[in-house]
Amino acid sequence: MKTAAQIIVLDAGGQYCHLIARKVRDLGVYSEVRPSETPAAELAGARGLIISGGPNSVYDPSSPTVDPAIFQNGACVLGICYGQQLMAHLLGGTVQLGLKGEYGLATFDLFANGDGGCSSMLFKGISGAQQIWMSHRDLVSAAPPGFSVLGSTATCAVAAIEAPARGLYAVQFHPEVVHTTRGREILSNFLFEICNCRRDWDPRHRVPQIEDEIRRCVGDRNVFFFVSGGVDSTVACALCQRALGAERVEGVYVDTGLMREGETDSMRHVPGLSIESAEAQFLDALDGVRDPERKRHIIGEEFVRVQERVVESRHLLDGHWILGQGTIYPDTIESGGTEKAAVIKTHHNRVPGIQRLIDAGRLVEPLRAYYKDEVREIGRELGLPAEILDRHPFPGPGLAIRCLCAEIDADLQATAEGYIVPVHSVGVQGDSRSYAPVLCIDVLDHARATELINRISGVNRVIARVRTATPLAEMGVRASALTPERLARLRHADAIVRRRSRESGFDRRIWQFPVVLIPLGTAGAPDSVVLRPIDSVDGMTAQSVEMPDDLLKSISMELLGVPGVSGVFYDLTHKPPATIEWE
Ligand code: XMP
Repeated sequence: MKTAAQIIVLDAGGQYCHLIARKVRDLGVYSEVRPSETPAAELAGARGLIISGGPNSVYDPSSPTVDPAIFQNGACVLGICYGQQLMAHLLGGTVQLGLKGEYGLATFDLFANGDGGCSSMLFKGISGAQQIWMSHRDLVSAAPPGFSVLGSTATCAVAAIEAPARGLYAVQFHPEVVHTTRGREILSNFLFEICNCRRDWDPRHRVPQIEDEIRRCVGDRNVFFFVSGGVDSTVACALCQRALGAERVEGVYVDTGLMREGETDSMRHVPGLSIESAEAQFLDALDGVRDPERKRHIIGEEFVRVQERVVESRHLLDGHWILGQGTIYPDTIESGGTEKAAVIKTHHNRVPGIQRLIDAGRLVEPLRAYYKDEVREIGRELGLPAEILDRHPFPGPGLAIRCLCAEIDADLQATAEGYIVPVHSVGVQGDSRSYAPVLCIDVLDHARATELINRISGVNRVIARVRTATPLAEMGVRASALTPERLARLRHADAIVRRRSRESGFDRRIWQFPVVLIPLGTAGAPDSVVLRPIDSVDGMTAQSVEMPDDLLKSISMELLGVPGVSGVFYDLTHKPPATIEWE
């Protein structure tokens, strides 16, 4: 399953780094992501290196760099965006600090040679003006000695460079995004015309290959899984069942009582899975708990208890069993930033027995080399139901962290900009956690929300009022806890939103759609629902997404009919400064 990567993407901090590796694999070449500073000696053997984009300036001493020896190491190198700036900077060119920058679509003029075409192998088969996608502030103002400039845009004179005898190429734009119309061909030229890669990765029909790998890794032992209900663990478990036979695989799904409507039922249709009911255990332990970190901690502890019970009663820790996990490729990449997320919000604890299995390598992770959408395709090949495969990510602590609580009754505070709602939510500002009230404005305006959050201290989130049964001035925050009644209200609201966004096709345009219950309302209807549709690549950063007006109207009207709900709001905040989840 794992071959030596012919192409290595050096991660300079850009959000498109994984996308580059993905696009290379789509072209049939196995590629991996490594930190940009990886020593050149460790990259020997790769045919090509791609330096990714990134948000920094080469003049900032703390910004990512690469080992300059990579430029003489035998592998061809392609710099993208920041990668071009870094290559130019390290090889004697000039990078100019940008004042305004260039973001979005632009036209790239590819310089022609004498006969009207472009002689660069990077642009083989391409000529003339091209639609490209730019996202940069700094730019290269003079190419390094020995490089030629291949094209420009209206604001960027050096938009592509090459020194073909040395195998060095760079572009200021992003060939990996769909908005660069001929981007796929540019990457393909780099792989096959420049690096002479061979096709060693079949992005389809991988199942037999993975099954062989599972059988090799597992030997004559059996495998057990804790299946979360998410795509990755479900697909990994199904693969093991196919490779080894259902009788050698034990899949356990824990029903915490914090799941969405219909979720546990849909897991009943997955063959070979047993369901461990632990609703009462979780809800009792969470009784009266309001603080988000305490909630997460308690849920983590209860998970550990359930898992201990399961592994003991089924003797899963003896030498005959190994642990199966649904780890996917981005989870294995340290520089993907998942470590940072752990500081912002704590994730689950580990059962010591399971930790020992991991430490001893008694582990099979059939999806380690794959991206999420590849995992979905594999799931389809296995015949798993679309309702499981097309699921958005859902956090382990479930609805508990989407059902916000308040210690005491409190009034809204009117300000010139809107109302401060004294419901605290988690944010990430700089690299640290914030826990602050929310500002509520009256217009659904993302630009205004961003401006306000940068200007007003003490809030980390901006929501807009969509529809309320009572004027906002008459609503207040009410003391509230995590009760079965409020969880049922949230479950009901979430099911409405999911149904309508699925029916309209909106769910396929976004990455995740948390629905949050906040204790803002009136005596008769004490809660409100916050809609949080976001787009993201990996969950580390996210953009709040606009929703079609008619969909928003139908969702909000139906939500106002849910007993106990007196308002519907829209979270306009990007991540950072707010996190995707509210707690
Ligand atoms: P935040 O809220 O940190 O979320 O911006 C980023 C992504 O992680 C998911 N998330 C979790 N997933 N256990 C999980 O399995 C957790 O405790 C957890 N907390 C957040 C969140 O849904 C989003 O996709």
